[in-house]
Amino acid sequence: MAEDQAKPSGPDLTQGVALAELGDGGMLVGHVGDEDVLLVRRGTEIFAVGAHCTHYHGPLGDGLVVGDTVRCPWHHACFDLRTGEALRAPALSPVACWSVEQRQGKVVVRAKREQPAARRKPSGKAPDRIVIVGGGAAAFAAAEMLRRDQYQGGVVMLSDDDAAPVDRPNLSKDYLAGSAPEEWVPLRPDSFYAENGIDLRLNAKVASIDARSREVALADGSRVAYDRLLLATGAEPVRLPLPGGDQPHVHTLRTFADCRAIRARAETARRAVVIGASFIGLEVAASLRARNIEVHVVAPERRPMERVLGPQMGDFVRALHEEHGVVFHLEDTVAAIDGARATLKSGGTLAADLVVVGVGVRPRLALAEQAGLRLDRGVAVSPLLETSAPGIYAAGDIARWPDPHSGENIRVEHWVVAERQGQTAARNMLGQGEKFTAVPFFWSQHYDIPINYVGHAETWDELSVEGDIPAKDCLLRFKRKGRTLAVASIFRDVESLKAEVAMEQEAAA
Ligand SMILES: Cc1cc2nc3c(=O)[nH]c(=O)nc-3n(C[C@H](O)[C@H](O)[C@H](O)COP(=O)(O)OP(=O)(O)OC[C@H]3O[C@@H](n4cnc5c(N)ncnc54)[C@H](O)[C@@H]3O)c2cc1C
Ligand code: FES
Repeated sequence: MAEDQAKPSGPDLTQGVALAELGDGGMLVGHVGDEDVLLVRRGTEIFAVGAHCTHYHGPLGDGLVVGDTVRCPWHHACFDLRTGEALRAPALSPVACWSVEQRQGKVVVRAKREQPAARRKPSGKAPDRIVIVGGGAAAFAAAEMLRRDQYQGGVVMLSDDDAAPVDRPNLSKDYLAGSAPEEWVPLRPDSFYAENGIDLRLNAKVASIDARSREVALADGSRVAYDRLLLATGAEPVRLPLPGGDQPHVHTLRTFADCRAIRARAETARRAVVIGASFIGLEVAASLRARNIEVHVVAPERRPMERVLGPQMGDFVRALHEEHGVVFHLEDTVAAIDGARATLKSGGTLAADLVVVGVGVRPRLALAEQAGLRLDRGVAVSPLLETSAPGIYAAGDIARWPDPHSGENIRVEHWVVAERQGQTAARNMLGQGEKFTAVPFFWSQHYDIPINYVGHAETWDELSVEGDIPAKDCLLRFKRKGRTLAVASIFRDVESLKAEVAMEQEAAA
């Protein structure tokens, strides 16, 4: 995201601030030259780090200090206060760090410090070559972590996409709405891969895996040997077998190319039908409304998002979209699309020069299945994210892992989870034996309203609402047998972070 062009915040920290202004665990944002700097006090120590998250520029001063880390209020990235390292995705780049001096009850910020190299050393003999199948969230985060952890062996990324890894969540939000420039979409510039010795091969579809000879075969007949393999093949949109569903103005959305195609159609479209009132469907609806396109959402459920967020939040989401002009056709489906006319099952018709189908995704399991890996509505993995075949790991939308928080084997389709799993799998391919214990997190953005969700509750027997949902200031707790399994919130970021910490502590106890 773009750097904030606003004036630097708060006091000039090179002139010093009174120590008394910072209570223990307290935070204060000031500036050094043009840069916003966050001061954090932990007991007798004071840390000075960049005040903005390196993911989407979130204000770290509005986040939460936990031990020697600070967590971002927006999407729960976590930074090491000593080194600036982005310890938890979705941020991948460090924040800057400054030296601090304490003198006569004052804190003075001095020079910017060198960014220290990562501190973890691979244990045992490192594998010669790691092959990653995929070019999405989990795959990219794994490759980046391998290099951050100073892995010196070969890293080959095989992706059947024609684009280098992109910030997929942006494809239904700012980039689709037209408010984010093209440069924001790739996770890294093309030069990153060569500079970091990552052999990224695009349009490289892996057709099969030979777990015995430790080789993958590509669709073009070539083969690549591996010592460790990470499967991160993600998911693909469900396509409806609709009469007329194969016309060029009917789209699904997963890839950069899908998004570009929708954007191109949106240049001239006046009326759109979105099939599905899921996260992606409604984010697309919001982005198309930002382009002033008339939007009709058709979906079989009674309330949007009720299954995940409950009835109250479902009603809120519906009202929010209606305020922005979206017209819902709920408890209905599209029966056929005939040119620019969508016929509803209920009998009506809707004019549509653009149709976006967002009715869920299916994990891409063909390779895992062919390789004989154990499947369980996804690829079954151990707490270390290893599949049933030694040396083959899986992460992201395809992986079903033992979640210590819910006590269940779960599979989710969340960006942050995929990235964090990619990072853990990377470390485990280097023999670090790290269990994946992160509390699941996702966010969804509708117009200027973010909904954050921590934890995992497929079902619940109690839903408590704190605050006021229509006032966009609320926290919902999804409980089973009195235990909070998940928390959804709007503009209650610190409470959401605290709920995450509480879930971590509960699982560790
Ligand atoms: C438009 C959109 C918006 C989203 N917004 C959010 C959001 O706001 N918040 C959130 O939490 N989640 C969001 N998600 C979900 C999130 O993007 C996914 O959970 C995440 O991308 C999963 O990461 P992954 O690495 O498992 O799969 P992906 O990111 O899908 O990557 C899979 C990769 O594998 C490649 N591949 C698959 N099969 C093969 C093969 N045989 N050979 C070679 N390559 C192969 C694909 O080309 C792709 O590069 C969104 C998803 C979409 C589509
Ligand atoms: S802006 Fe900080 S995690 Fe997204």
